[in-house]
Amino acid sequence: MSPAIRPQTVLGLETSCDETAAAVVRLDAGGGAQVLSSVVASQIAAHAPYGGVVPEIAARAHVERIDGIAAQALKDAGLGYDSLTGVAATAGPGLVGGVMVGLSFGKAVALARGLPLIAVNHLEGHAVSARLGAHIPYPFLLLLVSGGHCQLLAVDGVGACRRLGSTIDDAAGEAFDKIAKTLGLPYPGGPALEKLAEGGEASRYELPRMLLGRKDCDFSFSGLKTAAARLAEGLSEEADRRDLAASVQAAIARQLAERSDRAMAAYAQAHDGRSLRFVVAGGVAANKAVRAVLEATAARRGFTFTAPPLAYCTDNAAMIALAGAERLALGEAHPLDAPARPRWPLDEAAALANPTHQAGRKGAKA
Ligand code: KG4
Ligand code: ZN
Repeated sequence: MSPAIRPQTVLGLETSCDETAAAVVRLDAGGGAQVLSSVVASQIAAHAPYGGVVPEIAARAHVERIDGIAAQALKDAGLGYDSLTGVAATAGPGLVGGVMVGLSFGKAVALARGLPLIAVNHLEGHAVSARLGAHIPYPFLLLLVSGGHCQLLAVDGVGACRRLGSTIDDAAGEAFDKIAKTLGLPYPGGPALEKLAEGGEASRYELPRMLLGRKDCDFSFSGLKTAAARLAEGLSEEADRRDLAASVQAAIARQLAERSDRAMAAYAQAHDGRSLRFVVAGGVAANKAVRAVLEATAARRGFTFTAPPLAYCTDNAAMIALAGAERLALGEAHPLDAPARPRWPLDEAAALANPTHQAGRKGAKA
């Protein structure tokens, strides 16, 4: 980012799934980000009995909590509404009932305080999340792996993403969650499966390697999911379950690495070997085995590797505030009738050209 931008102090709001979150982020003139506060109220306990996110429960919980969470974020930052230069709210993609809560709250703040509103794409939030912990200049290659999305993107600048590949069925987080369920683990399954996998033998169970013959950067997890479910059925011993969890985790990490490796090769060629930065973001980026394999892949390809601080891998509002601040610094703002969008691909042209590649279309975030 150029060193001449207007500094911003932005309140971010995130309500697109099962986290009610608010944060205040300052973007300085050099493009560096400072998180002044970040409050995340998880609804895990409310959804756990159902084994997944229930949209109606989520929307109601967001309504009940959003004003208190926003007030807490300002209090933690030691600021009042008068100190803000803008308000950024997730406008999609996500569960639309929840998205509407945060977006409406953001619009009310913008109207009452005369602040510009930025309607942020949740995925763009994940895309900039690593910039909350380190100053990563554009451009970079991004692997976005969450509960609803699994894509490789060339991020050329603020809001300028080109999709290089995405899942043709489940998202990586969705695969973690569904396989965890077949292993009898509680929701959310990803962190629970990682915990079970500790000390497990990752080469114990052979699992299918999907899309091996294809030369593109797409992902597929459905065959792995089916195979893992079949194996899980017969297991009662804790050691066997641990080995299966470790094998699944390694298989998901391996596929992410294989596709990223392919994308890195193409990206390096397109960039003449310059600006070789690889960033992984989204909830699955919190997984240590996934991080390790991707870091090794990046090193082999001569890419620097960055993952967000753990707190900013899963859903949070600091990433939404930063995405909003970056657009605001470029003079962008959105009207108060900006719509909530259940679907909102980052690369709309690629999504239109290939509508079957709707990442994680069966997931809670679809
Ligand atoms: O980014 P996120 O909070 O929400 C979406 O935008 O989807 O990602 C949530 C996903 C869930 O599928 C969750 O199981 C997965 O990220 N996840 C993990 C880990 N922590 C969260 N998957 C594997 N290992 C983890 N440690
Ligand atoms: Zn997310």
